[in-house]
Amino acid sequence: MMSTNEGGRGGDILLEISDLFSSYGSGDVLQGVSFEVAAGDAVGILGRNGVGKTTLMRTIVGLLKSTRGDIRFCGQAITHMQPEDRAISGFGYVPQGRMVFPYMSVEDNLRVGALERGNRADLIEEMFAQFPRLRERRRQRAGSLSGGEQEMLAIARALVGGPKVLLLDEPSEGVQPSIVDEIGELIVDLNKKGMTILLVEQNVELMRVGARRGYVMEKGRIVSNLSAGDLADDSTLRDALAL
Ligand SMILES: Nc1ncnc2c1ncn2[C@@H]1O[C@H](COP(=O)(O)OP(=O)(O)O)[C@@H](O)[C@H]1O
Ligand SMILES: [Mg+2]
Repeated sequence: MMSTNEGGRGGDILLEISDLFSSYGSGDVLQGVSFEVAAGDAVGILGRNGVGKTTLMRTIVGLLKSTRGDIRFCGQAITHMQPEDRAISGFGYVPQGRMVFPYMSVEDNLRVGALERGNRADLIEEMFAQFPRLRERRRQRAGSLSGGEQEMLAIARALVGGPKVLLLDEPSEGVQPSIVDEIGELIVDLNKKGMTILLVEQNVELMRVGARRGYVMEKGRIVSNLSAGDLADDSTLRDALAL
């Protein structure tokens, strides 16, 4: 069994979501989501397929416009900020399905992540030091990697931009169990080093390992809070997902 993430409590509020609504055109998918993430915390959002987890992530990073509500980041209202400006302000987004550039090399994928910081080779090398498996495959096309390796690449691509918060959307999806464990260890390790984490998952085990506390989402709303104790209790999590 993997260990759980039991670090100290976070500091100031880094990300504050208030009464957020958003839609793809017909009817709101997010229906008044509110929660906050403190600096240094690792917060999970657990919810079944289709409840709006990805929509929430896209709205936070600005790929989808909110129809109502507010997003504050580092004390600043960013609700109407362009996605590229949000990225620069400190969002490291790891989208569901990873979205690596399949025809580009591993190294070039990382270069894209580092563009805003002046495409510095030292930043790429820093990532390779942290992800030796990516270094071994640095000249390989990203599309030729396994699902787990692509997930690691997507995480490294987000980290190389120097984010203040890492937003992970179902990193376990399509990844073999041993690599899911590795991703869990990586999340805990990053959080211990001070990285703030927002993790969206359906995978109970990864949620239990990676998050210190969390929320349950249903039909576009947060319906309950998960304390550290709730996260440690498998049956609470399974009930939350109605498994
Ligand atoms: N691009 C889209 N256009 C229209 N509806 C969408 C789109 N993406 C998701 N939806 C709908 O929004 C709802 C929430 O989807 P999503 O946020 O992907 O859920 P989750 O990530 O929790 O599985 C679903 O009903 C889904 O069908
Ligand atoms: Mg999703």
